[in-house]
Amino acid sequence: MEPSLSAADLVVRRFAHKDLPQIRQALIDVHADAHADSMDDEFNQRFPWFVDHWGGHPEFACVIAFDGEEPVAFAYGAPANPNREWWREHIEPAPEKDRTFSFSELAVRTKWRKRGVAHALSRALLEDRPEDLAVLLVDVTHPRVQALYESWGFRKVGERRPFPDSPVYAVMLAELPLPR
Ligand SMILES: CC(C)(COP(=O)(O)OP(=O)(O)OC[C@H]1O[C@@H](n2cnc3c(N)ncnc32)[C@H](O)[C@@H]1OP(=O)(O)O)[C@@H](O)C(=O)NCCC(=O)NCCS
Repeated sequence: MEPSLSAADLVVRRFAHKDLPQIRQALIDVHADAHADSMDDEFNQRFPWFVDHWGGHPEFACVIAFDGEEPVAFAYGAPANPNREWWREHIEPAPEKDRTFSFSELAVRTKWRKRGVAHALSRALLEDRPEDLAVLLVDVTHPRVQALYESWGFRKVGERRPFPDSPVYAVMLAELPLPR
């Protein structure tokens, strides 16, 4: 029988830019497990490039949930470049308080799904952030994931395809702190 572990049984650790060499492989492994059904997709295969890109940001922020020594989920992002935020072209007029955290990636190993781990980790990543807003992208063909993010306080403000080979994403925005 599957052990009935919950998000509360995991240890969440925080990491920053300087930690990238130490956590890089864990992020790649969890991502490969979380996307196991779509790793033939070339865009998913480029994930290590994205890890280095985001992890290379001096203000990179990452949380990883561990079951003992095993990393089972992660969430990461970094402050958005002013005026280049993913929401910018979709909201007119722009909110007065517009400092934005780009919530770039979230993944939970399949074995650990449906226990609130994604929610707990996202809250851990976003709590105490100095920004006013958090923005994320979710594949428009994944409406259940979009609904999950709506239940946390995000709302869809537009759509974008950041790279020619990437999916079309819903742009989702939330005010910080997230509602309780
Ligand atoms: C998204 C994720 C972090 C949520 O984890 P969780 O809180 O444990 O929630 P679940 O896994 O139950 O997912 C919530 C819903 O989204 C659906 N879903 C999750 N990943 C999906 C995917 N890649 N494609 C389509 N649907 C997906 C689930 O089937 C579930 O639907 P349900 O509510 O009808 O059962 C986790 O499912 C995951 O790592 N997915 C793969 C990676 C991913 O899609 N990351 C998000 C990028 S924006």
